[in-house]
Amino acid sequence: MIILVTGGCGFIGANLVPLLEAAGHDVRVFDSEIVGKRAHLVNFAGEFLSGDIRDPAALDAALAGVDVVIHLAADTRVIDSIADPSTNFDVNVVGSFRLLEAMRARGVRRIVNASTGGAIIGEAEPPVHERMVPNPIAPYGATKLAVEGLCSAWAGSYGFAAMSLRFANVYGPRSYHKGSAVAQFMRQALQGAPLQIYGDGEQTRDFVYVGDLCRGILRAIESGQSGVVQLGSGVPLSINQLIAAIGKVAAPLPLTVAYHPARAGEIARTWCDISQARARLGFAPDTNLSAGLAATWAWFCTRSESAIGIPAPLGPQQNSEV
Ligand SMILES: NC(=O)c1ccc[n+]([C@@H]2O[C@H](COP(=O)([O-])OP(=O)(O)OC[C@H]3O[C@@H](n4cnc5c(N)ncnc54)[C@H](O)[C@@H]3O)[C@@H](O)[C@H]2O)c1
Repeated sequence: MIILVTGGCGFIGANLVPLLEAAGHDVRVFDSEIVGKRAHLVNFAGEFLSGDIRDPAALDAALAGVDVVIHLAADTRVIDSIADPSTNFDVNVVGSFRLLEAMRARGVRRIVNASTGGAIIGEAEPPVHERMVPNPIAPYGATKLAVEGLCSAWAGSYGFAAMSLRFANVYGPRSYHKGSAVAQFMRQALQGAPLQIYGDGEQTRDFVYVGDLCRGILRAIESGQSGVVQLGSGVPLSINQLIAAIGKVAAPLPLTVAYHPARAGEIARTWCDISQARARLGFAPDTNLSAGLAATWAWFCTRSESAIGIPAPLGPQQNSEV
């Protein structure tokens, strides 16, 4: 298949594109390079197109001959979406609408859309699953929910195969720029700073290794199904347990931890039920935590600043997507 990956230079895209190529697909990457850069695509044999997801002409050109779209491009900053909901809405909702319309005009009718679990569901008794009533508490979650709605409508009205995959908290190599917990903690550890924890560290999250997630995305494009499916590890992990596990892979580097009062608006416990993903996609996240963290740590230790080119300030876990 010829696959167009929007946002393909970002964290997940840079891990996914080599997997798609190894599976024998022709891959085209479309990215504005506002966050990820073309240079992040290692040994990429396909075509790169620089463009904005809100630009209909650029989308039309990118879609020529394409069989399926994997839509990763988004403004993923949760806390920033509260201060500036307009930009988040524009990139995520208007951009996705223009993509779907450009696909319709080109006769491209298969899309896998990157969505999110926690930010859409909001505060709820875990495990999070697809049948829960969505209750986003930040504009980012609301925009992701809106895009799920658009995908569903384009499936219902225009015969699209449109699947939205709700990602849990993804970690792995190539995430240096991310605001998520593992990336923050590893940056802080490498910079010799205390790991910053808000609350007592007993809050739980669902951490899924990016390699497992990308295999789930590959399953979704090959399935050609529609609907909403949650992708995660299916296992709750507390922040204290995560830090203990990072301590093992970072040894002999000593880790120090600074606890701060819990912040309003942060969910205490969340993890997800992946039985739908197992049943519908044969999804099997089998990378154990220590192996996933070891691969991530190894990449964080060897990565070159110039190859990343993305500012990654130390600070609170501001932009975690779940
Ligand atoms: N990483 C996670 O834990 C996580 C969790 C839930 C959902 N998601 C979703 O997965 C997708 C990929 O996330 P990621 O972690 O790789 O994020 P990322 O920020 O690393 O990558 C996003 C890419 O989109 C590009 N982009 C942004 N705005 C664009 C625009 N207007 N036009 C074209 N390209 C644009 C950026 O340059 C970047 O390369 C996003 O849709 C995100 O919401 C990620």
